[in-house]
Amino acid sequence: MLLKLENISKGFGNQTDSTFRKVLDGLSLHVNEGESIAILGPSGSGKTTLLNLIGGLDHPDRGSVQFKGEEITGYSTSEMDRFRNESIGFVFQLHHLLPQCTLLENVLIPTLVNQDKSVRKEKYQRAEELMRRVGIWEYKNKVPGKLSGGECQRAAVVRAMINHPSLLLADEPTGALDRENVENMADLLLELNRDDGIALVVVTHSLELAKQMDSTFELRNGKLEKV
Ligand SMILES: Nc1ncnc2c1ncn2[C@@H]1O[C@H](COP(=O)(O)OP(=O)(O)O)[C@@H](O)[C@H]1O
Ligand SMILES: [Mg+2]
Repeated sequence: MLLKLENISKGFGNQTDSTFRKVLDGLSLHVNEGESIAILGPSGSGKTTLLNLIGGLDHPDRGSVQFKGEEITGYSTSEMDRFRNESIGFVFQLHHLLPQCTLLENVLIPTLVNQDKSVRKEKYQRAEELMRRVGIWEYKNKVPGKLSGGECQRAAVVRAMINHPSLLLADEPTGALDRENVENMADLLLELNRDDGIALVVVTHSLELAKQMDSTFELRNGKLEKV
């Protein structure tokens, strides 16, 4: 088992007064190596909160998150940073590329913690291979502002994949794209899952994409229901 969430609860606001709102309420989820999972649910239902907990960007109030059998909820900040950098790739609705950096510089950002010469060479080759594969290598020296939303989102996927994560988390990755690019992005994620064996947890409003995943859940009343 790659990822195991058991009985997760998470709320926001002050526990002791009426500002408190419980978002996740005893939620459980199991993800196997190489499995693909779609998560549906209305706006405000807690989908982003859930991905943040899986990726170690936030902590649950209660419950356990295990990655490859190891409990991550007790990790220190530096252990969490390391875990995220090595094991998880994130793709957001908006690409979050740095506007002043070229595409190549952007996709290499997660590799900068390692200064070792041979590692840097390997990462550069990995960047080239992935950027060629998604058709953006020719734009490597351009800044995001000079490129389309679809091209930038493909660069964001390359950045997420650069350190060979075993799990890719995507939060409405097609939400800001036009129709043609929605299909391209969906195909790319499914290809990474099929050919590279990377597990996917994708929050999406696209039933089209959800249908192509191994399983689909809807987030409702703080829990996941199988669709
Ligand atoms: N950091 C936060 N502080 C306070 N409330 C938050 C925070 N993050 C999310 N929420 C609230 O939790 C609920 C779920 O948010 P979110 O996980 O972003 O939903 P979704 O991604 O499904 O639209 C919303 O009511 C939102 O306002
Ligand atoms: Mg969200």
